[in-house]
Amino acid sequence: MKYAHITGWGKFVPQRVMTNDDVAQLVETSDGWIRERTGIGARHVAGVADSTASMSINAAINALDIAGVAGNQLDLIIVATATPEHAFPSTACIVQDALGADRAGAFDLSAACSGFVYGMSLAADAIKAGSAQNVLVIGAETLSRVVNWKDRNTCVLFGDGAGAVVMQASDQPGGVLSTLLRSDGSGGDLLILPAGGSKMPVTHEAIDQHLNTIQMNGREVFRFATRVMDRAAREVMHKAGWTADQVDVFVPHQANMRIIESASKSLGIPLEKFYCNIEYYGNTSAASIPIALTEAAESGRLRPNDRVVTVGFGAGLTWAAAALQWSQPRPPSRSRKTLSRVGYGIAGMRSRAKRVLRRFEDRVFGTLDPTLRPPAPGRNGKSSNGNGKYAPAPTPMPTQVPSLPIPDRDASALESGKQPQPVDEKLD
Ligand code: COA
Repeated sequence: MKYAHITGWGKFVPQRVMTNDDVAQLVETSDGWIRERTGIGARHVAGVADSTASMSINAAINALDIAGVAGNQLDLIIVATATPEHAFPSTACIVQDALGADRAGAFDLSAACSGFVYGMSLAADAIKAGSAQNVLVIGAETLSRVVNWKDRNTCVLFGDGAGAVVMQASDQPGGVLSTLLRSDGSGGDLLILPAGGSKMPVTHEAIDQHLNTIQMNGREVFRFATRVMDRAAREVMHKAGWTADQVDVFVPHQANMRIIESASKSLGIPLEKFYCNIEYYGNTSAASIPIALTEAAESGRLRPNDRVVTVGFGAGLTWAAAALQWSQPRPPSRSRKTLSRVGYGIAGMRSRAKRVLRRFEDRVFGTLDPTLRPPAPGRNGKSSNGNGKYAPAPTPMPTQVPSLPIPDRDASALESGKQPQPVDEKLD
């Protein structure tokens, strides 16, 4: 039987710190109010050079160092995020490229603040099923870019950062022992980023109404969170065969200190057993649990063989929990770290070489459609867009979205509950 152990951990937070007093310069609030209602004292905020991918890569490098795993040994990379670098390509693919993880599958996972525990659960299942040996699970967010800094109901809560773990297959009992994934889409409107998806693109109107920023019903989310923290923790402990008093450390999603205190009360577990760092980071959504796990491990609060319970909850609505036995880290090795750095340098060069080769192939062999060719370089050797950077020719966009070749009767057939005819048959 295979077990899925956490063998490496790492975090990255942007340098810039915004205190409650700094936020009080933007909206009508106070350090006292924020601390009393949430437990938050400060949050880290992305600088111009920080993004979800860059923070993910930094956290991942630290986690890989501790695990002693090289990028090209990874089988799978999962990035849990609600603020991906782009809609596509996935942030996970950007991480894969930077790490030189050329044997790894990579995908983003959208389950908001529960995303990291969802990812850990999928990774554990892949390892236990034998389809992966080494998996990198990252939780990363740049929430400062989707927060309305004029809305005091939300802007005081969130922060940026990334955390990562390496999970590895082992015959030794331990690691992730039980997990639980749940959802309730009926509460989707309680915490939502309305614009920017396929339903509502970001238009001037959407921006004017702040629909490209987080909208939240705080009280309802609070009620939901206190309910599910207790239930989910009990269920994973039960599945792992543990009682609450056997758990050494609880690592909850860091959303609000009052939610954590309420879980502590209802579970009958002293607050000292909960690892809390919300005071310094605010709510970093999918990044909050891996950042907390990393800090708990680095500070010696998490020791080998400790029994750990993590619970995440958030938009969707989603919630998830895991019971795991903490693993022994490998002794640190300087030469391994140096070798890894060389490996990432080579990965960067190889990535650039591949891009150049693709451009070269395109020039030599051409594309099927000449309108898709990049602009020819100008006389000075620079591309003709004038800024010296390669820029692909704009993809010709249809002025109207073409309608699908499906007759109207489909809609009525679907409405009346009848099975639609196969498309081919109708086109005859
Ligand atoms: N500063 C000062 N006053 C504020 C404020 C702020 N940042 N935000 C809200 N208020 C005001 C409200 O306007 C309200 O004033 P009123 O009574 O005059 O109308 C008062 O404070 C109380 O508002 P309320 O919404 O009842 O506060 P609360 O105790 O529920 O705390 C949250 C608000 C957002 C902190 C709390 O509901 C919460 O943490 N919810 C969960 C949010 C969460 O965790 N989301 C992420 C999940 S992953």
